[in-house]
Amino acid sequence: MNDRNANPAQARGTPDSTQETVIETDSLTRKFKKIKAVDNLDLRISHNELFGLVGPDGAGKTTLLRLLAGLLKITSGSAHVAGHDLTERPEAVKPKIGYMAQQFSLYAQLTVMENLNFFADLYAVTLEERKERTERLLSFAGLTPYTERRAEHLSGGMKKKLALACTLIHDPPILLLDEPTTGVDPVSRREFWSILTDLHVRGRTIVVSTPYMDEADRCTRVGLMYEGRMIRCAPPDEIRSQVRGELIELIAEHWQAARAAVGELPGVLQVQTYGTTLHLIVDNAAERLPEVEAHLEEERIAYSRLRPTQLRMEEAFLSLVDQREQERWE
Ligand SMILES: Nc1ncnc2c1ncn2[C@@H]1O[C@H](COP(=O)(O)OP(=O)(O)O)[C@@H](O)[C@H]1O
Ligand SMILES: [Mg+2]
Repeated sequence: MNDRNANPAQARGTPDSTQETVIETDSLTRKFKKIKAVDNLDLRISHNELFGLVGPDGAGKTTLLRLLAGLLKITSGSAHVAGHDLTERPEAVKPKIGYMAQQFSLYAQLTVMENLNFFADLYAVTLEERKERTERLLSFAGLTPYTERRAEHLSGGMKKKLALACTLIHDPPILLLDEPTTGVDPVSRREFWSILTDLHVRGRTIVVSTPYMDEADRCTRVGLMYEGRMIRCAPPDEIRSQVRGELIELIAEHWQAARAAVGELPGVLQVQTYGTTLHLIVDNAAERLPEVEAHLEEERIAYSRLRPTQLRMEEAFLSLVDQREQERWE
């Protein structure tokens, strides 16, 4: 973890074509009986990208990560990771990658230190390397005071950080992390991401799947998976700009009535509900705002907020998935 990489293109979030490709798939396909969990996927990930994988449940994120980790057999197509051809000897890639499964299991009865040692044994980390590395990882993960605590007695956030430390014990250049922060409280999520950012700055290539759109926003590039395919693959701001339409936020006293009233107005492409807040995706916010306002008044629907606002990844993602579903029925 010492090759600091301060590439300005990476900092801006643009994939850097001068960087070497470390993950490359061509028509990668994995079937489970009739289901194509990963369907003809072409993907290039460069050295030192922080690549976010998002998509609804069942989109194929876990299957893709397991294929890249050399843990699943490829049905057809090919994948190369860190120069290894995964169609030939998938297990040969293991020293190069740190894979953290969605249900990563620590040994509950073992202490923090014993867990780290267990994984160090598994990866045949030498004793000299082990001492320096465990110290660094423990401090990195904020677990130094807890080395003697059993894993079962750690908080959810600490468990995830220990799991990450175990994943890093053999110092892999490529990390494949499957929803590492799912179910973790927001503060621990932020801490976990500050560790990821640090690893990124230190030159690691990271592929991380996440259901949280704020996390996707922190990646250099985001791949939106849907039914085994990558429907978009771009830096977060580009993904937001690809969405047809602009956003108007509406908070009304009776949101159900408001939703019904505005849903059919001309120029309203979609209405998304967040608790009691409505997000109207419209073709042109400046033009539609006065029309929405007039209509709400006409219908006597009281509201406390009506304003144009920035599209977040969340709306962009839902809108792109929605577009894809509509295209399928057209
Ligand atoms: N071991 C398996 N056996 C059969 N079907 C599977 C298996 N693993 C995944 N699938 C199916 O493949 C599809 C993709 O699943 P998965 O990769 O877990 O998606 P995600 O991680 O995006 O939720 C789903 O339809 C799922 O049911
Ligand atoms: Mg999954």
